[in-house]
Amino acid sequence: MTTRRRKLDRIKNRYNNVFKDVYDKIDVEKLPKKYRDFENNFKRLSDPMVKASNDGYKVGLDFGCGMGGCCVVGHLLGLEITGIDIPEADGKPSPYLPLQEELKSRGYPIVLTDTNEYPWEFSDDQFDFIILYFSLNKEFMHSKLGFERRLEELLRITRKGGSWYIWPTMHFNLMTRKHEDGTFDEDGKVKIVFGV
Ligand SMILES: C[S@@+](CC[C@H](N)C(=O)[O-])C[C@H]1O[C@@H](n2cnc3c(N)ncnc32)[C@H](O)[C@@H]1O
Repeated sequence: MTTRRRKLDRIKNRYNNVFKDVYDKIDVEKLPKKYRDFENNFKRLSDPMVKASNDGYKVGLDFGCGMGGCCVVGHLLGLEITGIDIPEADGKPSPYLPLQEELKSRGYPIVLTDTNEYPWEFSDDQFDFIILYFSLNKEFMHSKLGFERRLEELLRITRKGGSWYIWPTMHFNLMTRKHEDGTFDEDGKVKIVFGV
């Protein structure tokens, strides 16, 4: 087994321990189905963090962080990851909220806010990289204008030479086809990396 593989196995064990403990404290049955089994999400959620770490980045934002798995893996890899997610859905508390609050109480920086309200609380150039994991979708914006405003704000908070790791959705594809994997935005500030 390679050293890299062994390191990831150790991280997986520690990730499982964090979530076992967190899931003991919350009502797991109320979580959306895909998050009830946290172990199943490890491979998927560790991919972008391993990639960002290998690319030499340190400070990242997980935009629409859901269960917070990227935040936990990121911290275990020595990265500084902030998660952001909305605390309400359709006028009711978001189903992820108890989980996100439990992670927050353990020191994981998770910002609970509606990102349709601008500007966001982050400073210019704050992040080396941003994870957009199925989070540029129709839950977020209903118009081309909303989409463009969001990209503008994402650009503002990413430093020059940073990357966005994107898992595109159908909605994203319809809104913009101008980027290809590995290209930069128009100002050459941010590298766009599709689903790693
Ligand atoms: C499809 S889920 C993806 C979650 C996570 N990235 C993953 O892949 O497991 C979309 C996420 O966006 C969050 N979200 C939706 N609208 C939002 C908004 N206006 N501001 C912040 N987060 C939002 C949802 O609460 C949810 O966690």
